[in-house]
Amino acid sequence: MTNRNPRLVVSTGAGISAESGISTFRDAGGLWEQYPVMDVASADGFARNPALIHRFYNERRHALGTVRPNRAHEILRELEEHFDVYVITQNVDDLHERAGSTKVLHLHGELMKMRAVDDPGFIRPFRDYDDTSSVDTVVEGHHMRPHIVFFQEAVPMFEPATEIAAEADIFVIIGTSLAVYPAAALVQYVRKGTPIYYIDPHPSRVPDGVTVIRATATEGMAELARILLKE
Ligand code: APR
Repeated sequence: MTNRNPRLVVSTGAGISAESGISTFRDAGGLWEQYPVMDVASADGFARNPALIHRFYNERRHALGTVRPNRAHEILRELEEHFDVYVITQNVDDLHERAGSTKVLHLHGELMKMRAVDDPGFIRPFRDYDDTSSVDTVVEGHHMRPHIVFFQEAVPMFEPATEIAAEADIFVIIGTSLAVYPAAALVQYVRKGTPIYYIDPHPSRVPDGVTVIRATATEGMAELARILLKE
């Protein structure tokens, strides 16, 4: 009988990357105050003006190259020494991977990848190509688009995410307003009686039975690590 480490499933949103200098979406001054979301992040917007969407994600990809994971990302990686950690993120940045987390599932896609417009399974990392895409970007005969789940598009990774959440021994939500579905429904797949923590300085839509740690991601993760490692 292997002594399986307890499974720690962590659902992260834009708030965990805020202290790395990446702006969230719905805080004051957030991304959706600066850009019309349906123009830069929806299927209709991509059909209407793909060049604008390529430019929007090129800007975010280039900005990502100038920031680093913060202490919250690093603590998550360090917890892998004691727990079987699964990160399920709504974020499209690669900060969890750059911090060294080994199991990361992106619900809303990945800034550092592009995919074929005509084949969602044809995915390529930007690092092997110029890190800027346009409507003229063609790889192996395929016109390419950002590997991002736009609003009005399906979230194919949600089902695998629910299967991971259903096996959680501890579930943690960090830095998300829980405003967007189906991601916000993930907590409903956690088994009854499983301890759930929610780390956020301004928690909203707090699900029932959740222990709130009202703090930033870096402070909250330090607090959570103390709680989990004392048990
Ligand atoms: N530490 C932790 N949480 C923070 C911090 C911080 N330093 N700063 C802000 N937050 C919290 C806010 O209080 C808020 O609850 O992060 C959350 C950010 O919420 P949103 O901006 O709505 O981001 P998110 O929940 O990740 O958005 C979900 O919406 O537009 C789509 O696809 C996009 O993945 C995104 C999804």
